[in-house]
Amino acid sequence: MKHLRVAVLGPGGVGGLIGALLARRGHEVTCLAGPDTAAHIGQHGLRLVSDRYGEVTAPAHGIQLLEEPVDVCLVTPKATRLDEALERVPAAALGDAAVVPLLNGLEHMALLRQRYPDARVVAGAIRVVASRTAPGDIRHEGTLAAVQLAPGADALAAALTDAGLDVAVRPDEAGLLWDKLAFLAPVALLTTTLDAPLGAVRERLGAELRALVEEVASVARAEGAQADAGATLAFMATVPAAMTSSLQRDTAAGHETELEAIGGAVLRAAERHGVDVPVTARVVEHLRAQLR
Ligand SMILES: NC(=O)c1ccc[n+]([C@@H]2O[C@H](COP(=O)([O-])OP(=O)(O)OC[C@H]3O[C@@H](n4cnc5c(N)ncnc54)[C@H](OP(=O)(O)O)[C@@H]3O)[C@@H](O)[C@H]2O)c1
Repeated sequence: MKHLRVAVLGPGGVGGLIGALLARRGHEVTCLAGPDTAAHIGQHGLRLVSDRYGEVTAPAHGIQLLEEPVDVCLVTPKATRLDEALERVPAAALGDAAVVPLLNGLEHMALLRQRYPDARVVAGAIRVVASRTAPGDIRHEGTLAAVQLAPGADALAAALTDAGLDVAVRPDEAGLLWDKLAFLAPVALLTTTLDAPLGAVRERLGAELRALVEEVASVARAEGAQADAGATLAFMATVPAAMTSSLQRDTAAGHETELEAIGGAVLRAAERHGVDVPVTARVVEHLRAQLR
C-alpha cells in the first residue's frame, strides 16, 4: 500500500471520518481548518466514534494554510464555506495533487477546476451519516460508508478501500454526481418544506415527491447522466421513514444551509439546458423566501 500524504480541507463529519480512517492505516493526514480546530487536531488528533469502525483515535497535523505538497487534497467543507476554505489551499502549494471533493451538489467541480488548473480534480461522492460533535471529534452513525470516485485518484481509492470504506470507481462523472443529487435533492427539499422526515413526505407530499424526482431526473439526463426516475422512486419507497436531511436539520436549527448547492444547482442546470422544472422551482423559491 502506497503511503499517502493527504490534506483534508474541512475536517468535519465527512472529512474527519475519512481522515481518521486513513490516519489509522498510517497515511500522513493534514487537516486544514480554522485556528481553533487546527490547533485541537494538531494536539489531540482525530477522534471517531462509529457504529461500524468502533472508536478510533488517530494522529493528524492541524494547520491553517497548505504549504507542503501532498498527494491528495480531500475537499470537505460545506458548500457555503467552500470559497473561504479554498483560501487555505494555494494553487502553487497543491502542484499536481489529486483534488477530490466530497461535497453534495455539482457546481464545486467547475469552481475547483478553474481555481486549480494544474491539479487533477477528480469527482467524488459519499453516502454516510456523520457529524462533527466537537473540533476533531466525529460521530458516524450506522454502517453506511460508501464512496464513489471518478478515475484519476487510484491511490486514494486503494487507500480508502484498505481503510475499510466501500469504494467504487466509475467512469461517468455526470452520472456519479447526478445519481447522488437525483435522490438527495427531492428528499432534502421536501423534508425541509415539511420540516418532517421522509415518511411524512411520502404520506403528505407524495405527488410533489414524484414530480421532483421526475424533474431532477430530466435535468440529470440533459447533463449526460442516465437517470431513471422510476428506480429512484422505488428505492425511496424502501428508505426508513425516519430519514431526515441535513438541509432540513440546518434549516430548523437556523444554521447556514446548502439550499443553493442542492436546489439552486438543479434550477441553474435546468435553465442551462432549457428543461422545464416547475415543481422544483416552486419548492426552491419557497425555501429561498423562507431563508431570507
Ligand atoms: N455529514 C454527512 O453525513 C454527509 C454525507 C454526505 C455528504 N455530505 C456533504 O459533505 C459536505 C461536508 O459536510 P459535513 O457534514 O462533513 O460538514 P461539517 O461537519 O459541517 O464539516 C465541515 C468542516 O469544514 C470546516 N470549515 C468551515 N469553514 C472552513 C474554512 N474556512 N476553512 C477550513 N475548514 C472550514 C468546519 O470546521 P470547524 O470544525 O472548525 O467548524 C468543519 O470541520 C457537505 O457538502 C455535505 O452535504 C455530508
